Amino acid sequence: MSSLSLGNGLVISHTEAHHAEALEALQRLVFPHLADQEILHADQYRHHLKVFPEGQFVALDGEKVVGGTTTMRYRFDGSHMPAHTFYDIMGGGWLSTHQPDGNWLYGLDVSVHPDYRKRGIARGFYRIRQELCRQLGLQGQIIVGMLNGYHRYRQELSVEEYFEQVKSGKLFDPTVSVQQRIGFQVVSLINNYLHDETCGNAGALLVLPAAKDIA
Ligand SMILES: CC(C)(COP(=O)(O)OP(=O)(O)OC[C@H]1O[C@@H](n2cnc3c(N)ncnc32)[C@H](O)[C@@H]1OP(=O)(O)O)[C@@H](O)C(=O)NCCC(=O)NCCS
Repeated sequence: MSSLSLGNGLVISHTEAHHAEALEALQRLVFPHLADQEILHADQYRHHLKVFPEGQFVALDGEKVVGGTTTMRYRFDGSHMPAHTFYDIMGGGWLSTHQPDGNWLYGLDVSVHPDYRKRGIARGFYRIRQELCRQLGLQGQIIVGMLNGYHRYRQELSVEEYFEQVKSGKLFDPTVSVQQRIGFQVVSLINNYLHDETCGNAGALLVLPAAKDIA
């Protein structure tokens, strides 16, 4: 599948070099609290197309870039992931950590323009990535979701407690609960994953086996 029409005028397709500047601008809009070194820059987006072009996607409204996602291949046993940071796992943004023989697809980000949310773009990205996993014979997708709703509870809950309540469905997180709704299973909490106080600097490791269909 080289492109996916969402049926509402929006299309998901492979990233091209001329999308790079708009993708960097989108990163700044969607991740305003991330450290600058954790934001992907235009020159890095262009480099990703040399490293693993099949794994890079944009969402388009006509010519306008309204979403983006970056992936790489990674060796993983399906359950245990050594502690790591976002910066290190993406090779400082350059995807030097891409393992051409990796058996899982590591999704490094999904960004959707605020004016285009709840129109199926994230679901579309996860679907086209699932199709890529099948084409490449991969085991499935790994992601580390940002606990973006934690800041609302930080006075009353530790990030570990918040994570447990999101995992069990008692609390709704605007990122991790959406990923669960799409079909991802929560595996574990990764503390000090990135620099963003709003999510307690932590991320939730989630997996989606390739055999599972995304509606
Ligand atoms: C999280 C994010 C990627 C979701 O993107 P999106 O395109 O709006 O998601 P979709 O439209 O595909 O929604 C998927 C499902 O989640 C639901 N959903 C999405 N956002 C929701 C929210 N804030 N509250 C409740 N439900 C929500 C949708 O209704 C849909 O459910 P349904 O299919 O059962 O009806 C987007 O909000 C975003 O870019 N957030 C900031 C960046 C981020 O957190 N990225 C991911 C971590 S790297």
